[in-house]
Amino acid sequence: MSKTTLPVAKPFYGPEEEQAVVRVLRSGWVTQGPEVAALEREFADYCGARHAIAVANCTVALHLSLHAAGVGAGDEVITVSHSFIAGANAIRMAGAIPVFVDVTLNDFNIDPAKVEAAITPRTKAILPVHQLGMPAQLEKIRAVAEKHKLILIEDAACGIGSELKTEAGWIKVGKPFGLAACFSFHPRKLLATGDGGMITTDDEGFAAHLRRLRQHAMSLNDRQRHQSNQVMFESYDEVGFNYRMTDIQAAIGRCQLQRLPAMVEERRTLAGAYSQALARIPGLVPPADRADTRTNWQSYCILLPAGADQRGVMQRLLDDGISTRRGVMCIHREPAYANPPESDGVRVPLPVSEEAQDRGMILPMFAGMTADQARWVAARIDAALAATSQKARAC
Ligand SMILES: Cc1ncc(COP(=O)(O)O)c(C=O)c1O
Repeated sequence: MSKTTLPVAKPFYGPEEEQAVVRVLRSGWVTQGPEVAALEREFADYCGARHAIAVANCTVALHLSLHAAGVGAGDEVITVSHSFIAGANAIRMAGAIPVFVDVTLNDFNIDPAKVEAAITPRTKAILPVHQLGMPAQLEKIRAVAEKHKLILIEDAACGIGSELKTEAGWIKVGKPFGLAACFSFHPRKLLATGDGGMITTDDEGFAAHLRRLRQHAMSLNDRQRHQSNQVMFESYDEVGFNYRMTDIQAAIGRCQLQRLPAMVEERRTLAGAYSQALARIPGLVPPADRADTRTNWQSYCILLPAGADQRGVMQRLLDDGISTRRGVMCIHREPAYANPPESDGVRVPLPVSEEAQDRGMILPMFAGMTADQARWVAARIDAALAATSQKARAC
């Protein structure tokens, strides 16, 4: 058993979630059913989207959205390497080619100024990520997408509760800027259902297609068949998937959605405490909102001073009982993506993504954590930086 006292993240559940699970178990309907339908309505309302379609996780949400949007073999999808590997995997699952664009260091998100240069005649879609919950610069990206008639699908895995200022005022991430936005309900996220995902869209036809595709492309769903007093035979008009969410997960998700505003507020307070305490450390860069963002602080990722011993600092913190993670991965550095086939085209260098991974460190952030704990973590980072730089000088 590890002696870690401060985890990097943990989900929060109360008696409401426990009772919701029992309610579903006793109802006799445990797979996709009335709880999923209710969560979809409540989630769409929360985000300000017209439709929400629940699925098994965000990876399949991305795959389903790309597939239903007509992205397929040989198409290129512009995205970031500086993200969880699921994004690139979903593009590959659709048969398409991920084309990586560098990020900006201040928000870890796709650099809108570099998107246009990545467009080729094969480009079909842009897939920006709201990394760690920090909203991407969507208005600029949408302008490029519209100019080149490209599909825009957001990877909003971490984005529930984050807000973005637009010409029309503040909106929630999930009010789709393009065709769709895809969310994750993995336990590292604010709204956690074990596993789970959601797609939001304002396009009614697209929503209906997603609903069929997630359930084997069946013409009738289970509820239509079970609730009918007529014998009904379904048909399968195209190849589909089993990407359903269960009613057990959805019932938990509905309770979590109720808690969400309070959870976001709590994290904003914690982020404030971290940023104030960390500001005293020379060379360390705490994450900050842009003027047009209000982040949910799903994950709080600092940049260590240039040249700092990332692994050494993380180890000293772990020895103190503080769990951290290094900066977001770079997909192009992983064996699965390091040597793309020639047919994928030429890759551009991604120096900012690599710097963000090598200097980044994600700090503990979870419901119930206190501002005093955040200040203690900041003090231990200061001490770890001093100790590791002394050690480096002595060598
Ligand atoms: C940016 C991003 N996209 C996609 C995913 C995949 O989400 P899921 O685990 O729900 O499939 C994650 C999960 O961590 C993520 O961080």
